[in-house]
Amino acid sequence: MTDNYVVFGNPISHSKSPFIHQAFARQTGMDIRYGTMLAPLNDFVTTVKDFFAAGGCGANVTVPFKEQAFELCDELSEAAAMAGAVNTLIKLPEGRLRGDNSDGVGLVADLQRFTSLQDKRLLLVGAGGAARGCLLPLLNAGVAHIDIHNRTFAKAATLAAQHPQRVKPIAYTQIGDAYDVVINSTSASLSGSVPALPPKAIHNALCYDMMYGADVTAFNQWCLDHGAAQAADGLGMLVAQAAQSFYLWHGVMPQVAPVLQALRQQLTNQEA
Ligand code: ATR
Repeated sequence: MTDNYVVFGNPISHSKSPFIHQAFARQTGMDIRYGTMLAPLNDFVTTVKDFFAAGGCGANVTVPFKEQAFELCDELSEAAAMAGAVNTLIKLPEGRLRGDNSDGVGLVADLQRFTSLQDKRLLLVGAGGAARGCLLPLLNAGVAHIDIHNRTFAKAATLAAQHPQRVKPIAYTQIGDAYDVVINSTSASLSGSVPALPPKAIHNALCYDMMYGADVTAFNQWCLDHGAAQAADGLGMLVAQAAQSFYLWHGVMPQVAPVLQALRQQLTNQEA
């Protein structure tokens, strides 16, 4: 029987994960099925349990269930434990589940397409779930220092306190100009806005927006208009996190580049 994988979310019909995982499967010659599964907002846990009881082999988890997935796992990777969120469910013997989080690894892999992170100084904008999930993988990639700036300072302070040696919360007025990489992890673009930053923060920096779209994102456009060296969006992170999940399930690392290229093409065509 073909192994069955899904991504749980609500909403979920827009998800690009089936396209990505089916492309990875073709590329690596694996026979798997990967689809979407809409979980009711008030019954995520039963939906997950039923899927695995019926023979499901593994799953991704997306908005708004990553924290609930973290709660339901019997075992967690370090990345998932630090993120407080799970996006990859791995089936263990006797009906147990292991939770991992490939988002941060995906971000790091995508950033490394543009630059080495070794000894770099980073500004991370935002202190929500997306920021929490990427701190440990960024530190493990060898960055020198991370400043976290958030509209609500207290949340940046709480997050930075997890890694006091190399991560610091920073208020708007303290933001300097010495950053190599500036990452937008906020959900500001969902409301059509750009987080407030002094232009000197992004001067000559590689700017990275975890969001993506058919057009240049509002954050990236602002960065390019204000002196950024380069701006990349989160489509590469999406494909790279999927590649890491694929690796966790199948032990084979697929190639990201051709799938990213196909997805980018799809987005552009949808726009046209
Ligand atoms: P996620 O899980 O996607 O990170 P979240 O936990 O709701 O989502 O966090 C959203 C982040 O985006 C927060 O850092 C939020 O700032 P606050 O902590 O001050 O709420 C940030 N954010 C959302 N809209 C923003 C905006 N218009 N400008 C700046 N930051 C914004």
